[in-house]
Amino acid sequence: MDVLDTATWESRAAALAAELTAAGVLHDPAWRDAFAATPRHLVVPRILDGPTTLEAGDPGWLDAVYADEALATQTRTAGDGPAGREIASSSSSKPTVMVVMLERLAPEPGHRVLEIGTGTGYNAALLSHRLGANNVYSLDLDPELVDAAHEHLTVAGYSPHLATGDGSQGWPGEITFDRIIATCAVTAIPPAWIDQLAACGRIVAPLDAGAAGPLMVLDKTADDEVSGRIDPFPMLFMPMRVDVTSPFGPGKQPSAAATAIPHYGTTPVDPATLLNRPELALFLWLHASGLTLGGSAEHGVVVAQRGLARAEVDLTPLAEGTWAVRQSGPYRLWDTVEHAATLFEALGQPDAARLGVTALNVAGKQFIWLDDPDSNHSWPLLNSGS
Ligand SMILES: C[S@@+](CC[C@H](N)C(=O)[O-])C[C@H]1O[C@@H](n2cnc3c(N)ncnc32)[C@H](O)[C@@H]1O
Repeated sequence: MDVLDTATWESRAAALAAELTAAGVLHDPAWRDAFAATPRHLVVPRILDGPTTLEAGDPGWLDAVYADEALATQTRTAGDGPAGREIASSSSSKPTVMVVMLERLAPEPGHRVLEIGTGTGYNAALLSHRLGANNVYSLDLDPELVDAAHEHLTVAGYSPHLATGDGSQGWPGEITFDRIIATCAVTAIPPAWIDQLAACGRIVAPLDAGAAGPLMVLDKTADDEVSGRIDPFPMLFMPMRVDVTSPFGPGKQPSAAATAIPHYGTTPVDPATLLNRPELALFLWLHASGLTLGGSAEHGVVVAQRGLARAEVDLTPLAEGTWAVRQSGPYRLWDTVEHAATLFEALGQPDAARLGVTALNVAGKQFIWLDDPDSNHSWPLLNSGS
């Protein structure tokens, strides 16, 4: 099939826009037009699906392109040697997630927008359709991705400003933006974004909070400050990274588990009640960023891991209301989990909608708060790697 066969792709793009509308995520007619008119197939000529690769023209490729799915387009090896796992380092995000972000971004005609994470260029194409390519600036860490996006966007007829660089430094040059959208997840707001955000501007960025990453929607509240609520719409983004050869963010490379088990104790928290609860996972993350919590039915334990700190808790109680805990590593991780889980219950099991963020353009002066910025409950947002 000719990949430029417009009748074929246009009906699929229109069907995707209709699907997003029917699902109740796409409300703005201008974004509906953009999704119906933007040729995703021209920026995703190759889709990686595990060991399978779908190339332009392959059976099923066009259907996959216009499905409401994230499409992996690049992987990097995680871990050493040829046996290392392949992890996606770039993708075209799921259209549902893109719509939610673009509608929260709410750019107006004439607005200048910066996108961090060009990837395939599809989002830059949608923004270009809506705002005019001259108002769209997009950068990616990986020069190969920027080159490919440039080539594909040119064929599609869009010419936004593209650059290669570390998005945490903002756009290279003296310029301000009315809107900044990050399509990779961050653990804190890079100060450069606050500096480059115009008065009344808005930043939309996914919070890098593990499996439960919600969306920060922050408005400029002072020259040096942005503040706003967390949108609970669940979204999972790849992290903002500094190393183009790795799929991980700084400090996120999985570390070997410590083998020594120096501390045995007990906990009154039933470990089984902590699993598969996204709101609680986010709350635990606020107390211990990078924490992973998983159950191992085979070994009958729940394992909490954060860097070299590890805790294993038996699923079977020792006695009524008491579970055995083994902790190893540089500090007692379960003590933090136990404290956070108890506070979570005391505060009425707060979900992400009760959280907000205030960020100054100075590292270390950024925090997540509960209910309002002056609340007694707040937690620092830390830059990646800190
Ligand atoms: C989910 S993809 C972006 C999808 C893209 N917006 C699209 O429409 O195809 C995330 C992108 O963020 C990029 N990225 C990661 N860390 C970055 C950084 N420090 N600066 C700029 N881009 C970064 C990755 O290379 C990847 O292409």
